[in-house]
Amino acid sequence: MSGTPSGEPDTGVPEPNRVSRRGLFGLLGSGAVGLAVGGAGGAALATAAGAGNPGGSSSGAVPFRGAHQAGIVTPAQDRLHFASFQLLRGVDRAALIELLSDWTVAAEALTRGAELGAGGAASGPPLAPPSDTGEALGLGAAKLTLTFGFGRSLFETKDGEDRFGLAERLPAEFTELPAFAFDLLDSATTGGDLCIQACADDPQVAVHAIRNLSRIAMGRARIAWSQLGFGRTSSTSQSQDTPRNLFGFKDGTANVMAEDREGLAEHIWVPESHPQEWLRGGSYLVARKIAMTIETWDRASLSEQERIVGRTKGEGGPLSGGAEFDAPNFEAVSTAGGPAIATDAHVRLAHPEQNGGARMLRRGYNYVDGSNPLGQLGAGLFFISFQKDPATFVRVQQSLKADSMNEYLRHVGSGLWAIPRGISPGEYVGQALFTKSA
Ligand code: HEM
Repeated sequence: MSGTPSGEPDTGVPEPNRVSRRGLFGLLGSGAVGLAVGGAGGAALATAAGAGNPGGSSSGAVPFRGAHQAGIVTPAQDRLHFASFQLLRGVDRAALIELLSDWTVAAEALTRGAELGAGGAASGPPLAPPSDTGEALGLGAAKLTLTFGFGRSLFETKDGEDRFGLAERLPAEFTELPAFAFDLLDSATTGGDLCIQACADDPQVAVHAIRNLSRIAMGRARIAWSQLGFGRTSSTSQSQDTPRNLFGFKDGTANVMAEDREGLAEHIWVPESHPQEWLRGGSYLVARKIAMTIETWDRASLSEQERIVGRTKGEGGPLSGGAEFDAPNFEAVSTAGGPAIATDAHVRLAHPEQNGGARMLRRGYNYVDGSNPLGQLGAGLFFISFQKDPATFVRVQQSLKADSMNEYLRHVGSGLWAIPRGISPGEYVGQALFTKSA
């Protein structure tokens, strides 16, 4: 699959602001590309995605380009559509670059709230499928962010193959997550070559983005699995109220927030001293699909629920006393004589004090995937965390082995992706991985 489909010489650096012919193929369908490119409307269709869209609304738009990718410290939006992609057999380095370039052009339009393709959803050639699927028309940008990640398999497959000539760019710390106690991982919701985290304040905007990015990927990558999330379970800015998870508890109180620049530099962003240039200013994303047996949880008493979490259910203050944002005191003793925050309470075991100072930025979402024949909800937390080194997550998750909350949890999906730094004007997502020296 090397070389451009149009027969032009392959420089490895696609033209910025232009969807490749192969990307158009996904948007329009094979017959329509021939019709459109060969016909009078061809030039217009091949121009920048969304460039001619008069109907899009950029109000509520989050800039797509910047030093870091958006969707990490961006105040957590209300909705999620997370997708893991598998690259198809036969896709080579040039095709991968072309895909990332096409995704960049489209992501820029989508995050502006613009339609894809010059003809958008309803103004293109009548005999071709519309280049934009249309369901986000009139919904605006809705604070959409698209965060792109690279799986370890991009650098080395399970069989040790270097498919894309990237093996020398593999960061030393980028190892697969180990198996954890109580893992019940389903391969159908685990891993992937690439990931896209789409977050927005409107669910249809997030779904529209993943749907259209998936169309553009046609012939190069397919969605391996995806997950919808309907309620954020973290604050990533002090300007936000703390939301609640499906256990009914405030979640995201003790998080690394956007305002904590020192904390972000120390724990979340890959430092400038990192040997791999492409990853400096980036991060690592861990996703865990955690099923919660909420019917059993709902039968636990209030005091038992609070004992398990280590915080009060109402205000979210630590059981050692104080208000929500007061620091927990793990030495404090309860009136009954034992530790005020139980030794197997979630917040004790997850706290940096118990984990050599390790901190992460949590950005997860509640989900409900329907219900089973017994009438139980397929509910849970789609946990997402960002950290400068996957070892941080591993350390905390290993500490949680003793967590009394485990009785109500099953980790059923998992993934780890390197998040390249943000991009400057004219660059495509992850460009430094393919162009700069290590
Ligand atoms: C469904 C599973 C989970 C639920 C329901 C849950 C719930 C909570 C709640 C209610 C809090 C207290 C409020 C807060 O500080 O945000 C909390 C804190 C925390 N959780 Fe979880 N959590 C889950 C899984 C995880 C996992 C898998 C990790 C990481 C491996 C994790 C890491 C943390 C951390 C680091 C804190 C803050 C601890 C502190 O500094 O006080 N949680 N979680």
